[in-house]
Amino acid sequence: MGQSTITVTPSGQACGATVTGVDLTKPLSAEQVADIRAAWLEHHVLAFTGQDISDDDQERFTIAFGGFGDDPFIAPIEGRKHVIAVKRMADETSPLFAENWHSDWSFQARPPAGTCLYGITIPPMGGDTLFSNQHAALDAMPGAMRAKLEGKIAIHSAKKAYAPEGSYGEGDIARRSMDIRPSRAAEASQTHPLIRAHPETGRLGLFSCLGYIVGLEGMADEESLPLLMELYRWQGSEAFQYRHRWEKGTLLMWDNRSVLHAATGGYDGYDRLLHRTTIAAF
Ligand code: SIN
Repeated sequence: MGQSTITVTPSGQACGATVTGVDLTKPLSAEQVADIRAAWLEHHVLAFTGQDISDDDQERFTIAFGGFGDDPFIAPIEGRKHVIAVKRMADETSPLFAENWHSDWSFQARPPAGTCLYGITIPPMGGDTLFSNQHAALDAMPGAMRAKLEGKIAIHSAKKAYAPEGSYGEGDIARRSMDIRPSRAAEASQTHPLIRAHPETGRLGLFSCLGYIVGLEGMADEESLPLLMELYRWQGSEAFQYRHRWEKGTLLMWDNRSVLHAATGGYDGYDRLLHRTTIAAF
């Protein structure tokens, strides 16, 4: 087992840090895993810059932090079971993938702890990924708003996105380069508390948002949807954000239990390709 030599530099924004001093083409030592996990729990989003990793390296990294999560509705790349291509071609005209705030796969019974995204083809401008710290969003929330949300159980479903009629449904996939597979299975739902303790740190935060959250238990849509919309606007406030500007060779690792994220555009005319793996809940 080698010694950990990682250096963690906070972004200075509401979350996020850069990690250097580790070569992800090599297996991580137990000390490195422990130090990276501690930094991840503190900063929620870690950027490992200056890497040159293969899919094998990315998979090994993912396994070190909890094993592979289950990725429904998007086919893996050829020859891999656990690597998804987040891809957009220079001339693609479909709406941007993942442009709304979300927590990955929050509609699952055991949503994934984290996501890893590795920059392969990065456009010269645009394509930043935004993150929003949901501990900070809860901590700063006005009391009157929080009172309306305390104790609420959120209903999550993938139907608005991945059902055949969804935004990534049958009418969308023909013009999209990502290998999305809409399905009736997206109509299933699961519930999770809206305000909940982070499973590892115990810190309270808001979990997921309108989109994968389709309602609140015991409330009619006419009542819950305006409340969820008001909450969505609050959750994505600039004060809670970290803007990640991509470079080729950066591996990003985020904690779906404590942040929301959203893709941004601004790179029409350029290809963008990143490989994504999912860290299972544990
Ligand atoms: C994602 O949500 O997995 C994609 C984020 C991005 O493309 O910036």
